[in-house]
Amino acid sequence: MVELIGSNKIKTAVFISGTGSNLKNLIKFSLLKKSPIKISFIVSNNIKAKGLNFAKKYKIKKKTYNFKNKKLSEKLILGDLKKNEINLICLAGFMKILSAKFIKKFNGNILNIHPSLLPKYKGLNTHERVIENNERFSGCTVHYVNSSLDSGKIILQKKILISKKDTPTTLKKKILKQEHILYPKAINKLLANL
Ligand code: GAR
Repeated sequence: MVELIGSNKIKTAVFISGTGSNLKNLIKFSLLKKSPIKISFIVSNNIKAKGLNFAKKYKIKKKTYNFKNKKLSEKLILGDLKKNEINLICLAGFMKILSAKFIKKFNGNILNIHPSLLPKYKGLNTHERVIENNERFSGCTVHYVNSSLDSGKIILQKKILISKKDTPTTLKKKILKQEHILYPKAINKLLANL
């Protein structure tokens, strides 16, 4: 895992594709004096991602890459991460799958948050599938990223009870609230004691 040198915070990039509520939450967390990370770069595959507005608001460098050419995008991203001295990547609603080569090149220092109790419900439409299957519990998971989808080593997980009245929309909202607590907690677990 990454090393903290002196009292410097770990330079972190957050990758997004959409709303960016986890990005906003991570930015707020990173601004706390005790936080081990500094968010210095935001990556998106979607020029229309709402979350990109947080880059402007918090004066953080941002860049959008066109994943139609994934190989080239990944090459460009790796170059920009190096330029910006990034040591940690946090995926936060980033809906593209990074190649094994990219993950290896970045030394495995990539985290992701997923809105289910992994290894259950990997992939898309998590909440719809959970409700359809009448599950009693769901939750969210922060894990390392490896080359298989939503499959790396689990760092932290939060379980919640599903109410009979829950719909995919209410469940998403409930879990997102927990994601905002869990992601900083997982980062602290990994990095606070360095
Ligand atoms: C979050 O629920 C996150 O866990 C999920 O996308 C949402 C992004 O919301 N990620 C995945 O499903 C990844 N497989 P946000 O843009 O408001 O942070």
